[in-house]
Amino acid sequence: RHSRNHTAMLNILTFVVCVLVLEPCSAEENEYVVNDSSKKLSEVPQNLPTQTKILDLSINNISHIQADDFNYLLQLQKLNLSFNLIQEIGSDVFGANKELESIDLSNNKLYNGSCGFLVHLLALKYLDISYNKFKTITLGSEFKSLFHMEYLGLSTKEIHKSDLQGISHLELELLFLELSNLSVYELGSLQILNTKKLHIVLPETGNALSSLVLDAYNASYVLELTNVSSGDCLNAVSQISKSSKVTSLTLSDVKIHWVEFVLRVVSNIWHSSVESCQIYNLEIIGKSVPYAHFNYTNTLMKALILKTARIDAFYFNQNDVYILFANLLIENLTIYDANMLFMLCPSHRSKFRYLDFSKNQLPDDIFQKCTNFSALEILILRDNKLKQLYKVSLMTSNMSSLRQLDISRNSLVYDSGSCNWSDTLKKLNLSSNKLTDSVFKCLPRKVEVLDLQNNKLRSVPSELVSFEALKELNLGHNRFVDIPDCTSFRNLEALFVDANSIHVPSSNVTHNCQNLKAMRAGDNPFTCTCSLRDFISLTGRSDIRMIGWPESYVCRYPDTLAGTLLKDFHLSEISCSTPLLLLTILAPMLALVALISVTCHYFDLPWYLKMIWQWTRTKQRMLNTNSQELPESVVYHAFVSYSQHDSAWVKEHLIPNLEKGDSTLRLCQHERNFIPGKSIIENIINCIEKSYKSIFVLSPNFIQSEWCHYELYFAHHKLFSENSNNLILILLEPIPQYLIPDKYYKLKSLMAKRTYLEWPKDKNKNPLFWANLRAAIKFNLQDVNKKISSCLA
Ligand SMILES: *[C@@H]1O[C@H](CO)[C@@H](O)[C@H](O)[C@H]1NC(C)=O
Ligand SMILES: *[C@@H]1O[C@H](CO)[C@@H](O)[C@H](O)[C@H]1NC(C)=O
Ligand SMILES: *[C@@H]1O[C@H](CO)[C@@H](O)[C@H](O)[C@H]1NC(C)=O
Ligand SMILES: *[C@@H]1O[C@H](CO)[C@@H](O)[C@H](O)[C@H]1NC(C)=O
Ligand SMILES: *[C@@H]1O[C@H](CO)[C@@H](O)[C@H](O)[C@H]1NC(C)=O
Ligand SMILES: *[C@@H]1O[C@H](CO)[C@@H](O)[C@H](O)[C@H]1NC(C)=O
Ligand SMILES: *[C@@H]1O[C@H](CO)[C@@H](O)[C@H](O)[C@H]1NC(C)=O
Ligand SMILES: *[C@@H]1O[C@H](CO)[C@@H](O)[C@H](O)[C@H]1NC(C)=O
Ligand SMILES: *[C@@H]1O[C@H](CO)[C@@H](O)[C@H](O)[C@H]1NC(C)=O
Ligand SMILES: *[C@@H]1O[C@H](CO)[C@@H](O)[C@H](O)[C@H]1NC(C)=O
Ligand SMILES: *[C@@H]1O[C@H](CO)[C@@H](O)[C@H](O)[C@H]1NC(C)=O
Ligand SMILES: *[C@@H]1O[C@H](CO)[C@@H](O)[C@H](O)[C@H]1NC(C)=O
Repeated sequence: RHSRNHTAMLNILTFVVCVLVLEPCSAEENEYVVNDSSKKLSEVPQNLPTQTKILDLSINNISHIQADDFNYLLQLQKLNLSFNLIQEIGSDVFGANKELESIDLSNNKLYNGSCGFLVHLLALKYLDISYNKFKTITLGSEFKSLFHMEYLGLSTKEIHKSDLQGISHLELELLFLELSNLSVYELGSLQILNTKKLHIVLPETGNALSSLVLDAYNASYVLELTNVSSGDCLNAVSQISKSSKVTSLTLSDVKIHWVEFVLRVVSNIWHSSVESCQIYNLEIIGKSVPYAHFNYTNTLMKALILKTARIDAFYFNQNDVYILFANLLIENLTIYDANMLFMLCPSHRSKFRYLDFSKNQLPDDIFQKCTNFSALEILILRDNKLKQLYKVSLMTSNMSSLRQLDISRNSLVYDSGSCNWSDTLKKLNLSSNKLTDSVFKCLPRKVEVLDLQNNKLRSVPSELVSFEALKELNLGHNRFVDIPDCTSFRNLEALFVDANSIHVPSSNVTHNCQNLKAMRAGDNPFTCTCSLRDFISLTGRSDIRMIGWPESYVCRYPDTLAGTLLKDFHLSEISCSTPLLLLTILAPMLALVALISVTCHYFDLPWYLKMIWQWTRTKQRMLNTNSQELPESVVYHAFVSYSQHDSAWVKEHLIPNLEKGDSTLRLCQHERNFIPGKSIIENIINCIEKSYKSIFVLSPNFIQSEWCHYELYFAHHKLFSENSNNLILILLEPIPQYLIPDKYYKLKSLMAKRTYLEWPKDKNKNPLFWANLRAAIKFNLQDVNKKISSCLA
């Protein structure tokens, strides 16, 4: 969606720019083309755009052309008026069209002497006035100044020696003569021509035919004869001889019996001046194809091309046909689209260097054990019925000069069987077959260029003999999910893996490809995530050329990026690099943790937090209890119990700190507030009952010497229930669990609840400790102040 918006924006921009500049920006050519072909026009349309360069008026009903039809089209370059009804063109018609390069007036009704218009067209390169009504065609002075003429198409019924005089000075590329209604030909007329190629549509019959063809053989080095179908034609065509001029002869639309074809056409051409012969659209007529002896000796022929051949007969000895071609002693042989079912091994050492049997029905049994192709360099068996790759390899094993093999567009597979390729094979085309990964076990060792396009490959197997010579490998249009690395092809220079199933190429794509210079990997379903960045970075490397970049490298996934060019896909460094990402996220966290632990370590933060929490809780509780009625008996804020060993701490720290500056706080010490005559335990109980809170200063000494009193007491008095708030435990020193005897249930449970205040060794913390303790025991006792004295009394 993103990219489409982009394109739309661009289009609008372009449009605006175009409107502003008032000039066509895009498709410059199209702006100047007017195509009025097949519009049933009966005359040339008026008011065409004045800048028209190409005007197509073909296939209409135009019969008259006037001077002002084209005189405002000053830039006109190409005009097509073919398939109309034009009879005449006035000599003033193209007076203004100095740029006109090409006029097609074929298939009209022009007749004698209607070519006066040519005098103006000094730039003319292409003129077609074939298929008209010309009876004679006298190419006179109007052709004198057409020095740029390259193509000329004519048709006529009569040719006289003087007719072609007017073009004898032109060096034409191609002269096309449509002479199917020729009735008069004056011998020697064609001799004065100066054309690179001559193409003649032959008349079916007539006296003129023979002398025409005879002259044609001497008129040009390259000759094409079309419509060689009648017996007369055949007679004419077979006149070719060693002394003819033509070296390249093309016969098209040839309809002939097999014997005549061999003995009169091929045989005559074979022993003539022709070095290269092409036969297009050959139809072998007749019910039988008998054996025809062929004299192979003494030829100049180097190449024979047979394209599109049909044999009408059903039953014939195919070998008679095949052996004729197999034994031709020429360098190049092409038999294309001829329904050939088989081909024989030459019965002697052949001269073939180039064989092309494309588009036939050849099976993989051909040329097995054939040792007579020792000169063959290029073999093309494209589009046939080859199946087993190993058989094809055996076929090549005795082709000791084979450099190039094209066996594309067959049904080749490789399952098993030992392969034995020609040692000299450098270029192998296996595209468009049914090959799988196993093909790598059956490849020529020294292959340099390998095309495996459009097969069923998924990966390059890991254990492979290495292909040291391989320079170019095409794996396009297969099923690869990753770009193979070069472990087995160390010298690879070009790798094509376009149109596969590669989502994210692995990061070490070019790991072993030291010599890689070009890569084509477009048209894959790229998944645009961080992992793709390594691949994209490849495109920036100057030593590797990415073919098709950027237009064929497009994100397919994720959906939000579908259609985006890889070129436009950017992700920040941070979001893609895991270490970097971790660093950016973790670093602040680590810093925070460090800060906290430093704070804790140096300032004992947890302790402070705990103290503050306890203090707040105490305050909270006090708010709740404030309203409660206290028992009458309470006269002290707290009773303090401690071991004799800790009395120093109590006297020096606890009492001064609790009573200091706060005379309202009163403590009951069993030493100080001892009532004589009562037992220790009675004194203690007395103190506890008169106090709002009970403070126990816990230490190992206290537990060993004092706690026994209270454990017993707690067992009998419910005053200090489990949930009681009245107990305050101060832990003077840490007490290991094992020091607490099992019988002290109460102490154990209190200690387990951790509801004690720890005496901090750190002096700085003492004020908070005292504040907390004071808060815990502070209570307004002013009403009961009087009672204290009575208690003391
Ligand atoms: C004009 O259009 C016809 C089809 O309508 C096409 O065959 C022909 O090539 C076009 N001519 C040019 C000059 O583009
Ligand atoms: C030319 O006109 C005739 C009749 O006037 C019509 O039959 C024919 O189809 C037209 N040809 C074209 C190419 O328009
Ligand atoms: C002119 O038009 C005809 C019919 O559309 C076409 O066959 C022919 O090739 C065109 N000629 C040129 C020179 O393009
Ligand atoms: C063409 O010229 C020939 C003689 O060269 C003449 O007999 C014939 O009448 C002419 N045809 C036309 C239509 O002018
Ligand atoms: C050849 O002549 C016949 C009859 O005279 C005519 O029907 C045919 O159209 C002519 N062919 C050409 C290409 O002029
Ligand atoms: C063709 O030209 C050669 C010489 O270039 C000549 O010997 C031969 O007789 C000519 N053939 C014909 C049919 O005119
Ligand atoms: C070839 O000749 C046949 C008559 O035998 C004719 O119908 C056909 O139009 C000719 N072909 C060409 C391309 O002129
Ligand atoms: C083959 O043709 C050559 C002349 O081109 C001739 O001398 C030879 O006798 C012929 N051989 C046969 C077997 O006809
Ligand atoms: C034979 O084929 C080769 C390879 O296509 C080509 O280079 C050469 O020109 C051909 N020779 C002839 C005489 O056509
Ligand atoms: C190859 O040629 C030799 C003669 O050079 C011949 O004896 C042999 O039969 C030929 N091989 C085949 C398979 O035809
Ligand atoms: C043909 O190839 C086979 C191996 O495939 C080899 O043994 C034989 O010698 C070769 N023959 C020739 C004539 O090269
Ligand atoms: C390339 O990467 C793949 C996985 O990403 C790994 O399995 C392989 O070993 C790597 N190859 C090399 C040569 O580093």
